[in-house]
Amino acid sequence: MIRYLTAGESHGPALTGIVEGIPAGLPLKEDELALHLARRQQGYGRGGRMAFEKDHAIITSGVRFGKTMGGPISLTMENRAFQKDEAGWPVVMNKETEAGGIEKITLPRPGHADLVGAQKYRFDDIRPVIERSSARETAMRVACCGIARKFLKHFGIEIGGHVIQIGNVGYANWDEIREKTDSLYENGAEKIFKTADKSDVRCLDAELSEKMREEIKIQRKTGSSLGGIYEIIVTGVPVGLGSFTHWDQKLDGKIAQAIMGTQAMKGVEIGLGFEATKRDGQNVHDEITHDGSGFGRKTNHYGGIEGGMSNGMPIIIRGAMKPIPTMLKPLGTVDMNTLEQTETRYERSDVCALPRAVVVAESVVAPVIANAFLEKFGGDSIAEIEERFKTG
Ligand SMILES: Cc1cc2nc3c(=O)[nH]c(=O)nc-3n(C[C@H](O)[C@H](O)[C@H](O)COP(=O)(O)O)c2cc1C
Repeated sequence: MIRYLTAGESHGPALTGIVEGIPAGLPLKEDELALHLARRQQGYGRGGRMAFEKDHAIITSGVRFGKTMGGPISLTMENRAFQKDEAGWPVVMNKETEAGGIEKITLPRPGHADLVGAQKYRFDDIRPVIERSSARETAMRVACCGIARKFLKHFGIEIGGHVIQIGNVGYANWDEIREKTDSLYENGAEKIFKTADKSDVRCLDAELSEKMREEIKIQRKTGSSLGGIYEIIVTGVPVGLGSFTHWDQKLDGKIAQAIMGTQAMKGVEIGLGFEATKRDGQNVHDEITHDGSGFGRKTNHYGGIEGGMSNGMPIIIRGAMKPIPTMLKPLGTVDMNTLEQTETRYERSDVCALPRAVVVAESVVAPVIANAFLEKFGGDSIAEIEERFKTG
């Protein structure tokens, strides 16, 4: 089974990742991870920070002659601000010197991990909470999960995401989204992200993209922020990944955990999701068909999962992201040191991180699908899994 851990702070020397359980013999190059890292850095609605940082994950173990060796794969990615000694970060994040003279952050931002994190770990300075809870960590997640993505691709499973709503601007309903997207992923979901990436808000519809940009511009002017909804499609998934036999083996449950385990995510839907509650059963359940070679469904309202198992149709996941908590316009807060009612202080931040978050969401889904795949067809090497997959 694939497991991964990330370590590192936003402004520390580097982020580190360890990915365990990737079978031996998977072709893997650093450049393949760099593709999604670069995608995570691009998108309309960015603040100034990180515009200068180009992330690159260096593979430091587990790969030889361009192929995985079956052991843990470790990754390192430097944080340029620390490495280039910008804004005094090597002093602020020094691992050995005493904290004396370094300004404490005592104004918690509503909606961030600041206050509860400081209460929980008994900090009188929010800095350690900010450093680890921030979405900088998702850079290493994208790198780690990129390896699982590569594994899936080897077996014809592709993942692609796109934005369907920013603030109040988005598609009217499920049918409109299907009309715009379904023909694009007939030959694999990567076409979804490749097409969506042409829009800086990662929306497949040009008119909506323009409206979304306008929406972000308005919030940038008012000093506020915006969230929205994205959709992730997974194609090429064989029938029967996951299981109905136990609550913790349901594929939809595991996907939901991966999405909700990502910074700023507030909801998940599979297929029609909440929209199914407004329809009668005749207009929800996907009718079963057979084309002579295999079973299919007339529609895909269930987004490829029935009874906690993949049913062979593309998996369709939606994630809801809240507006990001750091904003130019202040909100009420309390100084943790003086207990005075006051206002937050602005820190440089994005207005809308949703277009970038899509890449993170695509990534975190990959190990979940890969593990369900390994559970069914698993082996120690790619060659062994290929044999099982062919006969499976
Ligand atoms: C790709 C991405 C970028 C983000 N960028 C910011 C940001 O610039 N400023 C900010 O305050 N929050 C940002 N967030 C959200 C915070 O990390 C998140 O709200 C915070 O860690 C609290 O966790 P919670 O929202 O899950 O409760 C971002 C999240 C993601 C996924």
